[in-house]
Amino acid sequence: MKKICVIGLGYIGLPTAAVFARAGYDIVGVDVNERVVNSLNNGEIHIEEVGLPEIIKEVVSEGKLKASLTPEVADVFIIAVPTPIHADTTANVDYVISATKAIVPFLKKGDVVIVESTIPPRTMDDVVAPILRENGFNTEHDVYLAHCPERVLPGRILIELIENTRIVGGTSPEAAKKAGDVYRAVVTGDVIETEAVTAEMSKLMENTFRDVNIALANELVKISQKLSVDAHKVIELANKHPRVNIHQPGPGVGGHCLAVDPYFIVEKAVDESPLIQTARTINNSMPDFVVNQVAHMTSELPNPKIAVFGLTYKGNIDDVRESPAIEILEKLQHNSRYQIRVHDPHVQIDQVSFPLVSFEEAVRDAHLVLILADHNEFKTLNAEDLIGKMNSPVVFDTKNCTNIDPTKVTVYKIGNLSTVKVIQEN
Ligand SMILES: NC(=O)c1ccc[n+]([C@@H]2O[C@H](COP(=O)([O-])OP(=O)(O)OC[C@H]3O[C@@H](n4cnc5c(N)ncnc54)[C@H](O)[C@@H]3O)[C@@H](O)[C@H]2O)c1
Repeated sequence: MKKICVIGLGYIGLPTAAVFARAGYDIVGVDVNERVVNSLNNGEIHIEEVGLPEIIKEVVSEGKLKASLTPEVADVFIIAVPTPIHADTTANVDYVISATKAIVPFLKKGDVVIVESTIPPRTMDDVVAPILRENGFNTEHDVYLAHCPERVLPGRILIELIENTRIVGGTSPEAAKKAGDVYRAVVTGDVIETEAVTAEMSKLMENTFRDVNIALANELVKISQKLSVDAHKVIELANKHPRVNIHQPGPGVGGHCLAVDPYFIVEKAVDESPLIQTARTINNSMPDFVVNQVAHMTSELPNPKIAVFGLTYKGNIDDVRESPAIEILEKLQHNSRYQIRVHDPHVQIDQVSFPLVSFEEAVRDAHLVLILADHNEFKTLNAEDLIGKMNSPVVFDTKNCTNIDPTKVTVYKIGNLSTVKVIQEN
């Protein structure tokens, strides 16, 4: 049975390590974060993902998975480190570079090196392969390099790691075949071999497609407000067309994928990507759009009390990276008129730099509940949860996720803002 070294034990690397360990492989998981390594070796995990705590406990106690601060000799190396953007939106591939350099002393002839991190086009050919060549490896015959992007949905990662179709882009056909075989051992979905740059671009275009489509829905929100139309109804009806699938609008696009990956393409082809750039601009404008709506709704209150519900970039996860909710909150906090209380049942206090409060404390005497994430806890809110507790029972639902009785509570949804009335003190 092969030994696999997984570099980077976050939302992608840790479940990947767990899935291969459960299939019987010997896994050494490597992370530069000592806290991550220590907790893992105690059979505990530092991220929220359905089913993962149980599997980790099992494979660690069986000795199939151990964590370490440094790599070890192995047959397969899987790199799943972050690939954020710099402040100027250019790609930061420094983590991939340092992870690649870190495995060099442990590489041997015949090993497979897979990068699962999302990377700009040509990174395998122009960045990863040269590092190995500079260290004496022939990337045609000695080691086999491939990019295998991840397309899992947080909350379903353990299922999708197994069932999704995998794209394996090799720097040579033989590399694609060898890396493909690594996944075929555990994946029930198709494993499709291609060139590295095609795999890189296909991953980026998946997320760019979604970002552009969400921008279209967000633009519709603004048009609908001007024309007094309900954008949610428009989308519902347009999507009855068998070949139309307009996405859902919202307070902006967050996370480390949709809000980041389009820039990897733009950087490499700036003159050829005006549509992708415009979509980014539209989605980036949504936090200000939400803040302006809140300002209008609360304009006649001397000290509006706002209960902010949800900080994550999507529902039912604990991930606040690039979250538009955080941007909205920070913008609201700049206005000294607002008294803001924040509630998110999925986020831990050490993830953010401000206090989090309970549901009861957040809604007490509030003039407005501002919903920024579609957690299940918010989807099931009902009028009785709010009436008698809030100063004025008004909800601004930027995720169109609630189903509160509109005869009892005033609910404004992001796609239907033409009816907004300024909130009055009770
Ligand atoms: N999370 C997702 O849903 C998702 C989906 C598709 C693709 N991706 C991509 O996968 C990659 C990893 O994302 P993630 O969400 O798992 O990130 P993460 O931040 O959750 O985890 C990355 C881990 O890598 C560690 N690390 C950083 N540099 C290291 C190094 N040199 N050596 C060892 N460990 C190192 C960090 O300490 C961290 O624990 C990114 O490129 C991301 O874009 C993520």
